[in-house]
Amino acid sequence: MRKAAVGGLVATTGLLALTALPASADDERTAPDCDKVKCVALTFDDGPGPYTDELLDILDEHDAKATFYLLGSNVDGHGDEIERMVDEDHEVGNHTWDHEDLATLSSDEIEDDLDRTDRAIEDVTGEAPTTMRPPYGSLSDTARETIDKPIMLWDVDTLDWQNRDPDTILDISTEETSEGSVLLLHDIHETSVEAVPDVLETLSDDGYEFVTVSEMMGSDIDAGTAYSDARSLD
Ligand code: NI
Repeated sequence: MRKAAVGGLVATTGLLALTALPASADDERTAPDCDKVKCVALTFDDGPGPYTDELLDILDEHDAKATFYLLGSNVDGHGDEIERMVDEDHEVGNHTWDHEDLATLSSDEIEDDLDRTDRAIEDVTGEAPTTMRPPYGSLSDTARETIDKPIMLWDVDTLDWQNRDPDTILDISTEETSEGSVLLLHDIHETSVEAVPDVLETLSDDGYEFVTVSEMMGSDIDAGTAYSDARSLD
């Protein structure tokens, strides 16, 4: 309907009408087809934090989509950043309430923790996350049986929390990434956010497209199953 109206305007007034139209907030994103192009998923854990807004600016400049595994305890006070994530077509995932090692918790405790985090995120975005990531990648049989979402791990660990060095983060990202990789970064560290422009430019020059985890993995992933990359799905 909107397109028909635009078409009419364009027909009568030319390109000016087209360029003057603001992008509609509800325009559906058309994600790249990861069967046809090389996809990679950047993931940012433990936020939101003080550098998240800057990271969103960087991603926007590069038209790159990412996935944010949020801590429920960080949601309060960061509603603006979380709304931005959703508005700008990033994915928001559940990284537990307060980064507890799920392998040490009972089934009831895990369920309560993940539900509480889902609700905090849903209060801001209107939707509960569809994927989760366990802190430290740590799981027990109980955790796998309890978790009712696909479990997203990673195959490229930038060790950004440890090295705090943009050059090292770039080196690891470019050396270890292959098609279907999931990169682990943390937007709570300034040095990690500083590394992102070069990571995006280098991988982009290599032909990679930056998509969300769910865009890359597709709908054929199962609750309670852990995935480290998209190659295991082939
Ligand atoms: Ni974490």
